[in-house]
Amino acid sequence: MKILKKLDLKPCVHGGEVWEISKKTGLRREDIIDFSSSVNPLGPSQKALEAIKDSLSQIPVYPDSNSTLLRKAIASRYEGVTEDNVVVGNGSTELIYLFAEAFLEDGDVAVVPAPTFGEYERAVRRMGKAVNHVYLNEDFHVEVDAFLHEMAGAKVLFFCNPNNPASLLTPKDDLIAIVERALEQGVLVFLDEDFLEFVEGEKHLSLIGKIAEYPNLFVLRSFTKIYGLTGLRVGYGIASKEIIQTLTNAKTPWNVNCLAQVAAIAALDDEEHLEKTRELVRNEKAFLMDGLRRIAAFKVYPADANFIFMDVRKSGFTAAQLKSKLLNFGLLIRDCSSFHGLDEYYVRVAVKTRRENERLLEAFKKTVEDYA
Ligand SMILES: Cc1ncc(COP(=O)(O)O)c(C=O)c1O
Repeated sequence: MKILKKLDLKPCVHGGEVWEISKKTGLRREDIIDFSSSVNPLGPSQKALEAIKDSLSQIPVYPDSNSTLLRKAIASRYEGVTEDNVVVGNGSTELIYLFAEAFLEDGDVAVVPAPTFGEYERAVRRMGKAVNHVYLNEDFHVEVDAFLHEMAGAKVLFFCNPNNPASLLTPKDDLIAIVERALEQGVLVFLDEDFLEFVEGEKHLSLIGKIAEYPNLFVLRSFTKIYGLTGLRVGYGIASKEIIQTLTNAKTPWNVNCLAQVAAIAALDDEEHLEKTRELVRNEKAFLMDGLRRIAAFKVYPADANFIFMDVRKSGFTAAQLKSKLLNFGLLIRDCSSFHGLDEYYVRVAVKTRRENERLLEAFKKTVEDYA
């Protein structure tokens, strides 16, 4: 029988593929040090893990479909935000797809930077809609004028701050100029701040406080990254009541399970764990950056987030070759060649603990020197 397909998409490539790598290499999953997904090196808060243990009795009943307590807990962290301004998703990825589904109509175009996180483009294509790429400059910074120009006539602009994979923050004034122009032109702005909590001065840099001023703005956050609840799949979005109501009405029921909801509430409360994480990432980023910059064959870009982006072409290896070499040391790095707008010579590594970072530096030195 010939199966007629409505959708025939290519899967998006991601880091963090420890299960596949384990199967391919025979390494135990626990023995792979994963530098390819940029999450909290300390793992989740103990309080979140305890909340899960204390809530196992909730498993026989459906979870609260609208994650009410979690939405309240999230709203209470931000001035001027109520639970009606919050939607919770099965990972922030669910909200990227939901947004594209809820707002893109026939003939609509979405603007997506290049390079950036691949799921925005995939979510748009899944809806059968067109993507207009805006390329970042040579140093992977945003050219505001290019965005202002390309936005005309678009329905949605996806934007990631700080950006993945280049780890760079767009200045707040530039972002505001983009959101204001978008408002004038009737463009919705989907602003992904999933990595912003790793950046110094996060509260001042976020646009969450601007949702009342900009009814076209949706801000995405995740419990995957700094909270380390990666496998539980929880993310959220903050926007005007109208945007949130549209998304809430369109979402899958019971999209976030009961254990994820309680863990996220407990994680939000554990300020001590967050502070410890930020301090570790601050110190370790400086250490890792310094070590990587000593490897002459690597061009290491400045990093605002908890991951470091590099051009490795002078090493004589492609990113894929380097990834494969490092797997011999049990280390998994992100080959960035799947990102639209990059060639095959870029890699991304997460900042981890001192012992892990030292292992990465040693493995890089041995690999690159071996070649030379
Ligand atoms: C920029 C960015 N946004 C969103 C996501 C999705 O995160 P999650 O669905 O785990 O919340 C990722 C994951 O890598 C990401 O890098």
